[in-house]
Amino acid sequence: MTSKTSTSTSTTPADTQTDTHDTRDTHTTPAGTNIDNLLHETRRFAPSDEFRATAVATEELYERASGDRPAFWGEQSKTLLHWHTPFTRTLDWSNPPFAKWFDDGTLNVAYNCLDRHVKAGNGDRIALNWEGEPGDSRSFTYSELTAEVKKAANVLISLGIGQGDRVAIYLPMIPEALISMLAVARIGAVHSVVFGGFSAESLRARIDDASAKLVITADGGWRKGKVSPLKPAVDAALALPGTNTATGTGDTTPGTHTVTNVLVVKRGNNPVDWNPDLDLWWHDELANANPEHEAQPFPAENPLFILYTSGTTGKPKGILHTSGGYLTQAAFTHKNVFDLHPETDVYWSTADVGWITGHTYVVYGPLANGATQVIYEGTPDVPHPGRWWEIIEKYKVSILYAAPTAIRTFMKLGRQIPDAFDLTSLRLLGSVGEPINPEAWVWYRDVIGGGTTPIVDTWWQTETGAIMISALPGVTTLKPGSAQVPLPGLDIQVLDDQGNPVPKNSGGLLVVAEPWPSMLRGIWGDPDRFVETYYSQFPGRYFAGDGARLDRDGDIWLLGRVDDVMNVSGHRLSTAEIESSLVSHPRVAEAAVVGASDETTGQAVVAFVIVRASQEGDLVQEIDVLSAELRVHVATQIGAIARPRQVFIVAELPKTRSGKIMRRLLRDLAEGREIGDTTTLADTQVMNIISGSIAR
Ligand code: PRX
Repeated sequence: MTSKTSTSTSTTPADTQTDTHDTRDTHTTPAGTNIDNLLHETRRFAPSDEFRATAVATEELYERASGDRPAFWGEQSKTLLHWHTPFTRTLDWSNPPFAKWFDDGTLNVAYNCLDRHVKAGNGDRIALNWEGEPGDSRSFTYSELTAEVKKAANVLISLGIGQGDRVAIYLPMIPEALISMLAVARIGAVHSVVFGGFSAESLRARIDDASAKLVITADGGWRKGKVSPLKPAVDAALALPGTNTATGTGDTTPGTHTVTNVLVVKRGNNPVDWNPDLDLWWHDELANANPEHEAQPFPAENPLFILYTSGTTGKPKGILHTSGGYLTQAAFTHKNVFDLHPETDVYWSTADVGWITGHTYVVYGPLANGATQVIYEGTPDVPHPGRWWEIIEKYKVSILYAAPTAIRTFMKLGRQIPDAFDLTSLRLLGSVGEPINPEAWVWYRDVIGGGTTPIVDTWWQTETGAIMISALPGVTTLKPGSAQVPLPGLDIQVLDDQGNPVPKNSGGLLVVAEPWPSMLRGIWGDPDRFVETYYSQFPGRYFAGDGARLDRDGDIWLLGRVDDVMNVSGHRLSTAEIESSLVSHPRVAEAAVVGASDETTGQAVVAFVIVRASQEGDLVQEIDVLSAELRVHVATQIGAIARPRQVFIVAELPKTRSGKIMRRLLRDLAEGREIGDTTTLADTQVMNIISGSIAR
């Protein structure tokens, strides 16, 4: 596939010895664990001289940020963004945990992402290469994208949308999704993007919670080889009884809602019902719109978007982000973590704009930095399983940002698929959303990255707005499986239950100890829940809900949500840790582990694994043998305490539409309970398939 020569530094015996020794002798803290298979990983990958020579981020960034953190961010903000009115204040933390950043400055977010690049002479640079699932494509230069957004902004104004109004966006991954978001931002309104895979009920709950005035949707979009309708879901959502009894309208009469118009992009050409009182075609409105629109400045703390994410309770949280601080950290991280050279790089984040990754690393970060990027409408396996690799070859993508779950799926299918494409344009790979197990990390680098590309494993959350923990390529020696170090300008700690920082070689709870520019500013309409969820565990410090561990160097290894951490005989075990062990077995492609209640040990480890495609032939006879082998494998790698009580070989794992494994459902199965709510699964049939394979 590639003629690149490998520059990885392979593990030295010395590395192996010290790491193995140190991690075995760990003593636990109340929040920690002394069993950590992840830390047995000893491969190290130093940046190559070639990469280092042109790297955007250098060691010096850490030094610059080591003093006054808010001042560092102020400097970055002035360098990276255009401020209509320069700020004189950086951080206002006088009313914690409600932060204000750069709050006496004014800016326009869309101007920063569009007009200023055109003014700087880069109007002819491609901003967007869009690839539709059926193979159609469209490209927009920065000038063209600016022109579209100006027209769309005028349409919004003509529909009565103004500063602070909420606009729900329910679109496929088409250019209009980005254009809509930027148009909303341009007029100081607030977008609430709802992932196109969500149901009418979920859409309605989000419309109601934010009292959205306008919905922007499409007739349908292409997914899995066919048109998936969207407009009918909007119609159904608006016909439902309202959900907004606490905030907003308070009116629950069916069909009564806050929406005054539905703007519909024509994409799928599927037939749609039309309500002349509400519905307008996007193309008609844009064709008649005034092409001139001058971006007005808004205060730095003007709300930019609400994005809903699930919490520990059933009701999704509307995470609120504002303008100046968010855009600063989006631009800073996109530039430094992805080593962006906007003149030459072609960047592709595979995320949908319905998720935070799509907000920060498809829309705001890349466009603020004047990047050229690729976006793709469909699924990775349509019309063939090499679709992603074909797109990389076609557009000569140099930076790829994807999720570990996708990487593991490709691993399962085998390297012959990517090997058939020219991927030599790739020079940097990113990972996000869940811990990436070392085997997947190394496969990603070897097979997709030609054995040379750095991989940045980026930890962050909807709430953090932008990347918080990641290697800096060109600076950091990489450790597969570890997100490694807080970015410059951030104070991230691992604490024990009492709130004390844990020593190296031990685990605890991940906390952000100081405010950061792109932090959430609250939960829409529910300030108490904001304080309670994030700031009650360790007052004044943000509790991320993740377990983490420091290794002997002080690098951070994420252990998964603390609600996914099991307690077996008083020992804490991470699902991620046991999964990593299972996946390191040559027969295992993917694994999910849950803690099932157990009379003797409190909880017991139950594993569900998918075996590699090539090995499935005579599987039925072998199931018992392989299950036993895997139990021994985990016990040998981690310790007897971690040996799974059961290992079920299954055909599928239950995943949400964003690719996260729904362990709750597996726990139901493992505990012999009736399976709970499966409505957020990408494929609601999957639990039947799993139950079937367990019963075999
Ligand atoms: O548990 C962490 C995991 O994803 C959670 C945040 O999910 P969400 O808000 O949907 O945002 C995902 C995209 C940023 C975190 O609490 N997570 C995210 N990135 C990583 C990760 N876990 C381990 N390693 C990561 N790189």
